[in-house]
Amino acid sequence: MASTIDKEKDIILGIDTSCDDTCAALVQKGRTVLANIISSQDIHKKWGGVVPELAARKHLEKISIVVTLALREAKLTWNDIAGIAVTSRYGLACALLVGVAMAKALSFAQHLPLVGVHHVEGHLYSNFLEHPEIAFPHISLTVSGGHTLLILVQEAFAYEVLGQTVDDAAGEAYDKVARYLGLGFPGGPAIDRLAKQNTEPPVAFPSPMLDSGDYKFSFSGIKTAVRYYVDRLAPDQLKTQLPAIADGFQRAVVRVLVSKAMQAAEAYGVKTITLSGGVAANSYLRAELIRTAGEKSMQVYYPSICYCTDNGAMIAGLGYHKFLQGCQSDLSLDIEPDAFLPITTH
Ligand code: KG4
Ligand code: ZN
Repeated sequence: MASTIDKEKDIILGIDTSCDDTCAALVQKGRTVLANIISSQDIHKKWGGVVPELAARKHLEKISIVVTLALREAKLTWNDIAGIAVTSRYGLACALLVGVAMAKALSFAQHLPLVGVHHVEGHLYSNFLEHPEIAFPHISLTVSGGHTLLILVQEAFAYEVLGQTVDDAAGEAYDKVARYLGLGFPGGPAIDRLAKQNTEPPVAFPSPMLDSGDYKFSFSGIKTAVRYYVDRLAPDQLKTQLPAIADGFQRAVVRVLVSKAMQAAEAYGVKTITLSGGVAANSYLRAELIRTAGEKSMQVYYPSICYCTDNGAMIAGLGYHKFLQGCQSDLSLDIEPDAFLPITTH
């Protein structure tokens, strides 16, 4: 295995198999996305949520294909690649294992340096693929199916986690509520679409921990409130009320996300907020954060939809900077499914 990245080369292969998307991307200089291949797994739809064992099996089937497709799309060969970055920290254990095993095998076979990175740090980095101008310090709200975190990003790659969810992640709540409403999986995009169609007053649901005075979140209460509400409805009532329920649920979730992000930005005197993670694709969250932050002359950044949900580009981009900082993993690289985002990394 090579000891460091070849300074003449600047293209990194990024691999992510942390959940239910098999991802491989090629990114030049941490910014220019040459290929971003994502194979999403339909197999979970019938279970209404990600089944880890099935996810791992699908990753095994697809991982070589997505890497080959990435090289083909970018019209590159292994000789053009400087190094390999892979999500080794945070995610489903058996799913992570596939990506890490693939990255280690490629590193060995192609004599390329390897670096394991944290999935959430990848989501944070996704904003920099398109917006390298983002100022420090800033507040980052990162919301997905697996995590909900409010982070003070003091400088590049230096994080202070201000708060996180005490139970369900925001995306998990979207997915479970979508299941109660019979909308399929993943639920976030379906609820987003349905809420937009609502012409009735939205059903009122609570926003737990809105006034808790800290940066913690809780979404299981909203989810349960929707469940109780739905259980009381006859099937035809449920059908007609679906958009108003979706709208009400989404408002309750977004209210607390936006409110805490704004509180953090004001408390730390920062003028920039970034959104990332799968739920950052949500149109109402984006609009509400822009509106509320705009009232305080704050700027909001979020990635294009294809970089909100899991992708290899954010991992390759982050990996490039990790290599430049001298980070490197060897073939003993192991998965750390529960690894917390380091309070401060350099
Ligand atoms: O970041 P991601 O792809 O995977 C994890 O790291 O968890 O996020 C997936 C989550 C799912 O819960 C999905 O329902 C949610 O992101 N999501 C959305 C939207 N698009 C995806 N949630 C709300 N609105 C959306 N438009
Ligand atoms: Zn993710």
